[in-house]
Amino acid sequence: MTAYQFFLYFHSGFRYIVMVLVLLAILGALAGWLGKKPYTDGSRKLNLFAMISAHTQFLLGIILYFLSPFVVFAKATMKDATSRYWTVEHIAMMLFAIVLITIGHSKSKKATLPEAKHRSIAVFYILALIVIAVAIIQSQRPFFGMSH
Ligand code: HEM
Repeated sequence: MTAYQFFLYFHSGFRYIVMVLVLLAILGALAGWLGKKPYTDGSRKLNLFAMISAHTQFLLGIILYFLSPFVVFAKATMKDATSRYWTVEHIAMMLFAIVLITIGHSKSKKATLPEAKHRSIAVFYILALIVIAVAIIQSQRPFFGMSH
């Protein structure tokens, strides 16, 4: 197995951990916000782990960016949908999603009322999950399962 294959599998599989943790954080935040529940240590940890998983996926993505044959810096890159996607669009959309998660987490940390803490997680993590899902659909790769 080459380093490229290793990181491709790792990054590809790790998407489920990111998406499941972000989804669980969203469900907890919605329940907490709409149900006016306290912001527990459990909520705090789940929201933190979801953000850490997104940051880890970012690091794996950066490594893959240097190994992938689909990432090419050439004149023809922007004309070819596949190389444009992997060189520009994937990194841009995923980075945007990770920034949204980071902002939501930091706003939640700064807020004092439990309702506001839950709300910023719910709003920002939902937006991020939509961006991630759209980016994966745009990739033309299977939403579930690995491509190679
Ligand atoms: C939440 C963040 C991210 C998610 C959910 C995600 C998800 C994915 C998925 C599903 C694939 C396709 C794997 C396959 O075909 O089996 C992929 C490939 C890839 N991702 Fe990400 N990604 C994320 C962030 C990033 C970031 C930030 C970068 C760059 C810095 C990046 C760079 C790449 C590269 C280079 C590939 C490989 C394309 C190839 O050679 O086939 N990803 N990613």
